[in-house]
Amino acid sequence: MASVETQGLSKRFGATDVLAATDLSILDGEFVAIVGPSGCGKSTLLRLIAGLDEPTRGRVLIDARDVTNVAPAERGLAMVFQSYALYPHLTVAENIAFPLRVAGRPRSEIARRVAAVAETLDLVGLLSSRPRALSGGQRQRVSIARAIVREPRVLLLDEPLSNLDAELRVRMRHEFARLHAALGATMIYVTHDQLEAMTLANRIVVMNAGRVEQVGAPLALYDAPETLAVARAIGSPGMNLLSGEVVRVDARGATVRVTGGAVVDAAVRARPGAPVTLGARPEHLVPDECGAFAGAVELFERLGPLSFAHLGAPGLETTIVAQLPGDRRVTLGETLRFGIAPARVHVFAGDGHALPRIAASL
Ligand SMILES: Nc1ncnc2c1ncn2[C@@H]1O[C@H](COP(=O)(O)OP(=O)(O)O)[C@@H](O)[C@H]1O
Ligand SMILES: [Mg+2]
Repeated sequence: MASVETQGLSKRFGATDVLAATDLSILDGEFVAIVGPSGCGKSTLLRLIAGLDEPTRGRVLIDARDVTNVAPAERGLAMVFQSYALYPHLTVAENIAFPLRVAGRPRSEIARRVAAVAETLDLVGLLSSRPRALSGGQRQRVSIARAIVREPRVLLLDEPLSNLDAELRVRMRHEFARLHAALGATMIYVTHDQLEAMTLANRIVVMNAGRVEQVGAPLALYDAPETLAVARAIGSPGMNLLSGEVVRVDARGATVRVTGGAVVDAAVRARPGAPVTLGARPEHLVPDECGAFAGAVELFERLGPLSFAHLGAPGLETTIVAQLPGDRRVTLGETLRFGIAPARVHVFAGDGHALPRIAASL
């Protein structure tokens, strides 16, 4: 186990800043997920930590030791990629043993360690098979086994489940949680799947356009996104986002008129006339005869325990998604009306930053 720190770590390819100066501090044994849209710099950050790319500026520290100029193999970390990159002519056992052979470990130790990781990853029955005989999930387990066989202090994973089907992804997600508990290694897990990040990570790093937007516990990011990019990245179905303008402010907060005409109170500090984006999570919209949001049901998704109604109305830029109980009956085209508590409303300024909240007074 080891802590990982980046100080002012940045990367420039040609004239493009692919990663702006990044300061991250990851604790010993933590499971940190890095999320963000494709191309935002997630893999670049991981490769810089691994030493596979050279930073333009900044430092990487592992257990407080500066490893910026240390070769990847000497950093005590291992990396798992989306493509499994197994050797097709070697058996599963030989694939797993490969890093130990390269490191010149004795035969008896290799046999012992391969047996141990095969046990951990449920590969015992497959040790003499070749990769082509394995399913996608099994191959990914072999590539993970190969990464952990040297007992790295830090395990870096770059979208390890992206090539698997949905059902297998859920199963493997559980395996990662188990693996983290079993190994106790520090894990840095890149994904574009926010659900994976929410369910697995102790903390999430949200990236956007080469910058870290926010770092925090999954629920902290969900409840209090500091920027629009974080609001977009976390939550599924996503937060409803509507552009609008602050039309009134008082001690309790601001009143926002959004495109389409709805007028909504929010417990935030704002400036009258400011252009803003209003955010409302689907589960915070509650049926209310006098509520601000009304629309005709254009799409109704029944998931069993709950449902999502997609509401459309003239002048709305996008449909509004509201969560309803699973047994709620709805007809397509029916008009529904929803309200939201001022404390539940998010408001983002023109620059994308969340406006400061006003604490509820008694
Ligand atoms: N070797 C490279 N040369 C030039 N541009 C690169 C190189 N590697 C990555 N990039 C660019 O850096 C950006 C971030 O890439 P990447 O870190 O792979 O994003 P992500 O993993 O979040 O999808 C992308 O715009 C990509 O095109
Ligand atoms: Mg990537």
